[in-house]
Amino acid sequence: MSGATVAIFPKWTNSIPAFALVSVISGIVVVVAAFWAYATPAYWEVGYQPAQPINYNHQLHAQQLGMDCRYCHTNVERSKIANIPSTNTCMNCHTVVDDQTGYLKKAVSLDGAPSTHFKSPELQKLRAFAASGEPAPWKRIHKLPDYVQFNHAAHLDAGVSCFSCHGRVDQMAVVYQQKPLSMKWCLDCHRNPAPNLIDKTRGRVTDLAWVEGQLGQAGYAQGVGAQLAESLGERSRQNPPTHCSACHY
Ligand code: HEC
Ligand code: HEC
Ligand code: HEC
Ligand code: HEC
Ligand code: HEC
Repeated sequence: MSGATVAIFPKWTNSIPAFALVSVISGIVVVVAAFWAYATPAYWEVGYQPAQPINYNHQLHAQQLGMDCRYCHTNVERSKIANIPSTNTCMNCHTVVDDQTGYLKKAVSLDGAPSTHFKSPELQKLRAFAASGEPAPWKRIHKLPDYVQFNHAAHLDAGVSCFSCHGRVDQMAVVYQQKPLSMKWCLDCHRNPAPNLIDKTRGRVTDLAWVEGQLGQAGYAQGVGAQLAESLGERSRQNPPTHCSACHY
């Protein structure tokens, strides 16, 4: 293993005998694990669902209104981080209240009539944030410790859908953490990605209902999934890595 880029195994560890390294590593594991058990906020867990500053609803916007995830999470395919949209993005629709009618000019309601929600206290909060120029203080839900590297773009590029890591967000009125985000969880998929790979050339990586249907088919992992896993290895990129320095550096 090259220690060069691993922050938790600094360079000098290269020069010490293997047995010493082992004890250093187990020492680190104990210390980190103890720190982790002590310092991890109990709420970054499966089911974590904090109250948000505005009652924003994914089910309404993503499923009923049919908005693609990338309309708001615009960077998810290009960057490590899936951005949270600014209030400007929301104001593309929830913008002007018509003085005459009091209706939102742009957002129409689900039945096609002008929105009757113009007086919604939730939208008033949204407009207040937008007017102040301050970002809405959304509470973070999914959060890895700082010593773990994760990259959205790399996963989407390999054909892993939001569905595999976040569940059916398009059915969540309020988003919650559905997966443990533990090291074991990462590695379980890295060792056997086939059940979670979809054909990304079909552009449906954010179509969570479709993805769930595909992955749920009998024999998927042995058939389509296995072929897609095979093709990962043929590309110049690495397969899902399991060496420590891939995720810890
Ligand atoms: C209209 C804009 C919009 C659309 C469309 C949208 N989101 Fe979001 N998303 C947000 C906002 C705002 C937040 C932060 C508030 C919250 O957690 O509800 C968020 C939060 C999230 C989070 C939690 C982030 C964290 O803190 O861990 C996930 C996961 C997520 N969205 C996934 C999706 C997926 C998957 C889709 C497509 C099915 C989608 N979003 C579509 C606006 C949007
Ligand atoms: C593509 C247009 C569009 C975008 C962008 C959009 N919305 Fe909406 N939103 C709607 C529509 C349409 C409704 C339903 C209105 C109705 O039924 O009258 C709605 C409803 C809502 C409601 C419910 C109001 C209530 O009390 O019933 C809230 C809150 C809301 N949106 C917040 C947001 C936030 C926050 C964002 C940005 C993260 C956002 N919306 C982005 C179109 C949009
Ligand atoms: C391979 C698993 C995986 C996939 C696929 C995935 N996410 Fe994530 N997502 C995560 C993890 C892990 C975090 C926490 C990252 C951190 O704390 O560094 C996260 C965090 C987020 C966040 C909070 C901001 C951030 O980047 O930390 C949003 C928003 C989000 N994801 C949206 C999405 C959307 C939308 C998709 C699909 C287009 C998606 N994710 C696909 C695992 C995934
Ligand atoms: C559902 C499957 C799945 C899960 C869960 C998953 N990964 Fe991956 N990951 C992959 C696949 C597939 C690749 C291969 C990408 C390629 O070969 O192009 C990959 C590649 C990577 C890479 C190398 C690419 C890069 O430079 O980013 C890192 C690092 C990584 N994953 C970290 C993580 C971490 C950390 C977690 C857990 C928080 C995680 N992954 C969870 C499927 C997954
Ligand atoms: C695919 C990504 C990935 C790889 C590869 C990986 N880890 Fe991790 N590791 C994580 C994530 C995510 C966490 C934080 C979540 C948790 O604590 O389970 C973590 C946490 C840890 C911790 C903190 C203690 C703990 O378990 O909570 C230690 C120590 C650690 N890893 C060591 C290693 C070593 C040593 C290797 C190589 C044998 C390795 N990791 C390989 C993703 C990875």
